[in-house]
Amino acid sequence: MTQNNLFFSSKEFKNKAWVKDKKIYKEAEKNPVKFWEKLAAKLFWFKKWKKSFVHNPPYSRVKLGTGRLAESENRPYFQWFAGGKINITENIFEKNLLGWEKIKNKTAVIWEPEPTNEEPKKLTYEELFKQVCKFANALKKLGVKKGDRVGIYLPMIPEAIISVLACARIGAVHTVIFSAFSPAALKIRLQDTGAKILITADGYYRRGRIIDLKKSADHGTKETKVKKVVVIKRAGNKIFFKKTRDLWWHELLKKENDYCKPAIMDAGDLLFLLATSGSTGRPKQTMHACGGYAVQAYWTGKWIFDFHQNDIFWCTADLGWVTGHTYGCYSPLLNGICFLFFEGAPDWPKPDRWAQIIEKYGVSIFYTAPTAIRMFEKYGEKIIKKYKFKKLRVLGTVGEPIDEDAWQWYFKNVGKSRCPIVDTWWQTETGGILISSLPGVGPFKPAFVGLPFPGIKFDILNEQGKSCKIGEQGNLVILPPFAPGLLQGLYKNPKKYKETYWSQYGNKAYFTSDGAIKDKQGLIRIVGRVDDVLKVAGHRITTGELENAVAKHPEITECAVIGIPDAIKGEVPIIFIVSKKIHKIGFCLEIKQEIIEQIKKEIGPIALPKEIYMVEDLPKTRSGKIMRRILKKLFIAEAPLNNCKANLTGQDLGDLSTLSNPETVEKIKKIIQQK
Ligand code: WTA
Repeated sequence: MTQNNLFFSSKEFKNKAWVKDKKIYKEAEKNPVKFWEKLAAKLFWFKKWKKSFVHNPPYSRVKLGTGRLAESENRPYFQWFAGGKINITENIFEKNLLGWEKIKNKTAVIWEPEPTNEEPKKLTYEELFKQVCKFANALKKLGVKKGDRVGIYLPMIPEAIISVLACARIGAVHTVIFSAFSPAALKIRLQDTGAKILITADGYYRRGRIIDLKKSADHGTKETKVKKVVVIKRAGNKIFFKKTRDLWWHELLKKENDYCKPAIMDAGDLLFLLATSGSTGRPKQTMHACGGYAVQAYWTGKWIFDFHQNDIFWCTADLGWVTGHTYGCYSPLLNGICFLFFEGAPDWPKPDRWAQIIEKYGVSIFYTAPTAIRMFEKYGEKIIKKYKFKKLRVLGTVGEPIDEDAWQWYFKNVGKSRCPIVDTWWQTETGGILISSLPGVGPFKPAFVGLPFPGIKFDILNEQGKSCKIGEQGNLVILPPFAPGLLQGLYKNPKKYKETYWSQYGNKAYFTSDGAIKDKQGLIRIVGRVDDVLKVAGHRITTGELENAVAKHPEITECAVIGIPDAIKGEVPIIFIVSKKIHKIGFCLEIKQEIIEQIKKEIGPIALPKEIYMVEDLPKTRSGKIMRRILKKLFIAEAPLNNCKANLTGQDLGDLSTLSNPETVEKIKKIIQQK
């Protein structure tokens, strides 16, 4: 049903949905803490919390959980379920809310390998549980204790899920590193978390090629505290095996018992650390605690995706990102449903691979990123026309703003104008979705993420801290009681935690770094980041970390990175470089190639730029600050971006008189025009 560009779910859908009445919002608003308390009480706790929510707890009373730093300034600004004892795996397995007897023989995970001639694998809840326990016991024998960090550098294979859950079982802190990250990026993450164990694989398949993951792991573990490396045999490629350090997964598991007692965790103890882009080259390690995260992961999945017993859910995100953690692993498992785990690329070996998978397994809930939607839109309707997608009933999107075109395409061609689309806003920091329409309530408005989840309070503030009017753009903030799954700190960096999230408006409002607008009905539209974060194909990178990688090249004296709109990837980086050797013939091409290699080495292929421009100088203020804003406007006004949907005309460069070198602007303009 549609009305003034608003879409509503069908009566039939509403009838079966967990939440169908908007009065839930009112009920939650009356007392959000009580509301969450009621939801949390449904989960299994070894011991109930003493206080459900504390804002600014005095340091002396904060119980510092395992892995937490005993530094006074690192105290959390709020605590959820303080004193409660829980284990998230106990809630997935023995104490699953659906009842263990009911789910133990049900398929938990369907694994689809990349090679089409290889057999998929299925694991029931009981099989998964046994594997998790075996590996948990193996980790214990390797000396892993509660609070110890364990690095997981794995492709999308079932062992990745098993590893994550095994850590959670024994109270070790998992820290998953995206498998396409370079050895240098892996090393930084291992150093910052202090992991002593790394779990990796010999190799994996990507677009028909075998990627030698172990080689990257060997390089990435140098100069770290990693003492043991557990290796999974996946691709069978030849690897270097250091007998004193490396252990085969299959050999370790052979000897282990298939039951392991769950560690009793404090609600505030760390469950995982997950890196996200920082403004410098070093990522920030977000700290997520056991109690609140489990509550949020369970309920947001249940209500936003409307998980029911017979659903088959597919979240296409890699486990290396937060979406993969929460909705590609924990949330479907806590809800006792079956989900898909896919090793390969969505359009390999043919563009309709993803459509084939949805059809083959009867996927009923599909969750992906706008970049993937736009990519398939570009391939054209004909590749999916033959698929009926009869089982599909809910569609989801995440990670970047979705434009109206892509939304409509997704709705018509994938959802066959029948499935509600939940556009879900959240961040690595929030642990779970915080803004989205509920599929049985609606309304769904293209390019709007919808209403805050019941029990979550947002506002849009101007620079002075005043609430913005309807239609006025401002900064999106989360108000107390914040969210049960919101990050508890940045590991070993309390200063940055305060600076990034709690400085703009004090510790009364969590600063999201997103610009947003509200409409008359209170529906929120995300405009994009107000800091230096780029969302490239949904992946989060900062201009700072890219500049850092480029600046390591010995011939580069200065550089600046900007993000520009892209029709498929949403946003892409453009790099401007300055080198003393600019006039040497042939040098320009050569150096550009070297910079590409440099970025691959420092970060990985996800951060590759769309274009590199060699310029004589960069526009700077008199105090020497590089004016990226001017570069961006210049680029958008001058570049022949035929695949860019942004309005490229009439960009005013603004006042150039504050520049110390205004003449550079004309020169750069010419270089861009020559392309
Ligand atoms: C952006 C991803 C518009 C936003 C889960 C946020 C979105 C950043 C949406 C976090 C959405 C996420 N619509 N923008 N539905 N979802 N974002 O940490 O800018 O990789 O701050 O977490 O992605 O990215 P992250």
